[in-house]
Amino acid sequence: MKICYIVAMVAEAQPFIERYGIQKVEGFFAPLPCQLYEGEVNGTTLYVVLNGQQNGSDLVGCEAATVATLSAIQRLHPDLIINSGTCGAFRAKGADIAEVYIGNGVMFHDRRVPGDDAWGTQSLGNYPVWAGSQQLAATLGMKMGKVTTGSSLDMQPCDLEMIQQHGGELKDMEGAAVGFVCTLLTTPILYVKSVTDLCDGGAETFEEFSRNLSKACEALRVANERVIDYLTKQIQGF
Ligand code: ADE
Repeated sequence: MKICYIVAMVAEAQPFIERYGIQKVEGFFAPLPCQLYEGEVNGTTLYVVLNGQQNGSDLVGCEAATVATLSAIQRLHPDLIINSGTCGAFRAKGADIAEVYIGNGVMFHDRRVPGDDAWGTQSLGNYPVWAGSQQLAATLGMKMGKVTTGSSLDMQPCDLEMIQQHGGELKDMEGAAVGFVCTLLTTPILYVKSVTDLCDGGAETFEEFSRNLSKACEALRVANERVIDYLTKQIQGF
């Protein structure tokens, strides 16, 4: 069995990489920016693929996540993709900083495409998540929420309108792009997202995100250890 994490930021993956002692495979995806780490946990191959960096900063966003996911699936043939990282969430929906959620759906919230219903539906995405996501969340006592993805850290009124209209709860910058590729290549996907900022909390988003990043990433490490333990000991197949 092979599990592959797709992670945008070094800060999000580092605590996890250190915990499992997984090793970097230098140049595996060259000349693409994504980076491979590989190890083994409970007899399961564990890959962590980072989007990579450009000019010294992490490549966040849909384009780099698409490249990383496509490359990872085509080269590594994982049985399950896990998109793990940080997100914004909503106090009004009961969210708090450093809470970790399992995704129960995923869509884009900043694609405003006029036209017929089919075009509108396609732009929103609404890709399926791994069928075992709900059972995992119930077993581990974790909250679930719908991931909504856009290309910006801030939230414009039109984004909020779309998020509210479609029941979005976890605002990120990669989830739906990863889900799109997984749908194309029929690879199941599980979302594990930790809250760095509250979109309706009144604080400036980047400041709040930066202030809570290490706390949220530590919570993410703890949650991912439980997720990996569950997947490697209790699941027979995906
Ligand atoms: N990642 C962490 N917080 C985020 C937010 N508010 N929007 C998009 N991506 C995020």
